[in-house]
Amino acid sequence: MPVTVRSFAKINLGLRIGPRRPDGFHQLLTIYQTIGLHDRISVGVGRGTGIEIRCSNPNVPTDQSNTCFRIVRLALDALKIKTRVVIDIEKRLPVQGGLGGASANAVATLLALERALKKSLPAAERLRIAAEVGSDLPLFLTGGAVLGLGRGEQVYPLPDFPATACVIITPQVGVSTPKAFAAWDRQSDQKPDRKSARKLTLPASSDRMVELGRELSSQLSESYSGAPFRRGRRENPLFELVRTGIQNDFEQVVFPEYPELSEVKHALERAGAKYASLSGSGSTVYGLFASKAAARLAAAKLRKQGWAAEATSTLTRRQYWSRIWV
Ligand code: C5P
Repeated sequence: MPVTVRSFAKINLGLRIGPRRPDGFHQLLTIYQTIGLHDRISVGVGRGTGIEIRCSNPNVPTDQSNTCFRIVRLALDALKIKTRVVIDIEKRLPVQGGLGGASANAVATLLALERALKKSLPAAERLRIAAEVGSDLPLFLTGGAVLGLGRGEQVYPLPDFPATACVIITPQVGVSTPKAFAAWDRQSDQKPDRKSARKLTLPASSDRMVELGRELSSQLSESYSGAPFRRGRRENPLFELVRTGIQNDFEQVVFPEYPELSEVKHALERAGAKYASLSGSGSTVYGLFASKAAARLAAAKLRKQGWAAEATSTLTRRQYWSRIWV
């Protein structure tokens, strides 16, 4: 019997890009947050060898370039198992970026594969394999609110924010992540303040990242040392956090290139979002709302304006893990 799992998406609550490292990757500081939108992945194992991927969406590769293919190969090697693996991807998430769809699919495949084989990898091995396939995979082994460091693959579970209503819009614009990083580097080289910061400091201690780190930790420690959050009593700590001015650095290079995405951010703000931002390097833009009703109303209004808006909610770590198995 194939094992089926929900492969939930993520958004980035703030993303700061640091210096390019000697390995070509950029140092990052971000908070990942899992959300309710998802694909479904089924994994079956059987006699023989080979990895087969089936997906009715023609934009999803079914060859060895697919992240699911790559993670299965690494997992089978680590487990020293030879078997045939069939992966069915029911694509519901937009294939365009920002939601970590392909990364989430790979992690969901790994979890389903382990269950189908009735074998499990040690947690550290699972994380190593996930990070080898891509920077955005390890967060899906944690779920909820996750601090991402390094090239994004070093993940630390954060105390969860309450589940918060949100609206997701992913315009049909293909933003290339490596190109967005390259544009960031070009822009940084033109700004003397950033250039000197990059020259003066070790890659591990970009001033701007330290500054965001301080903002986040002071905000989080305040949020969690104060009175416990109760709906209607105190403001949702997530709104307190976004009010500190966290930003996604990619907006500075992606919005001028794709003005439509900046338009989407403004449309979300006009529709009542308490905070709206690009997720990752886009094209996904999300808005956080005060209530589910407000998010649903905004999504309906935005759809009338021609945007493919979907209302959903952020998922706490507990919700993420309790809903993953179908
Ligand atoms: O690791 P992942 O496959 O998601 O990265 C895709 C590309 O994005 C990398 O090849 C690299 O060019 C760029 N990248 C980067 N710095 C990061 C993450 C990704 O430069 N922290």
